[in-house]
Amino acid sequence: MALLETRNLSKSFGGLQAIDKVSLKVEPNTVHGLIGPNGSGKSTFFNLLTGVYQPDEGSHISFNGIDITRSPAHKIAELGLARTFQLLRLYGELSVLDNVMVGYHPHTKYGPLAPLINGAEVRRQDKVVREEMEELLEFIGLAEYAEIPAAELSGGQRRLLALGRAIAMRPKMLLLDEPGAGLSPVNVDNLMSTIMTLKKRYNLTIIVVEHILKVVMSTCDTISVLDHGQKISEGAPEFVKGDPAVVEAYLGREMADEDIRAAMDA
Ligand SMILES: Nc1ncnc2c1ncn2[C@@H]1O[C@H](COP(=O)(O)OP(=O)(O)OP(=O)(O)O)[C@@H](O)[C@H]1O
Ligand SMILES: [Mg+2]
Repeated sequence: MALLETRNLSKSFGGLQAIDKVSLKVEPNTVHGLIGPNGSGKSTFFNLLTGVYQPDEGSHISFNGIDITRSPAHKIAELGLARTFQLLRLYGELSVLDNVMVGYHPHTKYGPLAPLINGAEVRRQDKVVREEMEELLEFIGLAEYAEIPAAELSGGQRRLLALGRAIAMRPKMLLLDEPGAGLSPVNVDNLMSTIMTLKKRYNLTIIVVEHILKVVMSTCDTISVLDHGQKISEGAPEFVKGDPAVVEAYLGREMADEDIRAAMDA
């Protein structure tokens, strides 16, 4: 069974059809790429999946067998669908460790009154959580920065921290919106290999939006291509790369993804 399935997913903003009847399946334990020219609807698609936007009538989204079409964002996150944002949202003044602890919070088993009830148990759980978070920081290579404010990290490190915070939620599926944006090619390679390590360690299924074609081609099992909100192609990386519909969508566009265009032209 697919972990995530959309049927006829649509979203219009006034007269603009940002997502237009997109049906898509993501199989468990795969990396699914989502590409398309600027403004084709990729971030909107993520916003629909995560309950940030309400889809139009007739849309259907299911996650892990549960209908989440009209579920609120916090409920969807609880079910195990987590995301990072195209623009980073970190707590700059908080330490690196506290930033991942924030991600973990929904999983602690006790409520706000728990300290009054059983202080020792809460302290024990806090210790377990802290150790798990420290292990996670090891994985993303930020252990030595645990105590410094997030604002002092480099751009690449902040990307990793955003990733760590999403993983701290213990998701089944992780949506990554341009994880490599603004990074040098070497840093992008490092980031992607970290992502693949995390995928194995935490049994993740991933959807990744990325403009850097090399990243998409080398990491994705399946790629879906959006253009003007419609799914215009889908398949294995080699198929999609050679699909005339995809080449057509990218040709003659003013856009940031020079890399994709170059590869399509080749
Ligand atoms: N909240 C909103 N209100 C109105 N229009 C929106 C809103 N969000 C997105 N859009 C429009 O929907 C279309 C798709 O935008 P979206 O951000 O999903 O594209 P994208 O594929 O993520 O682009 P990029 O590659 O530049 O990140 C665009 O025309 C955009 O202007
Ligand atoms: Mg976007």
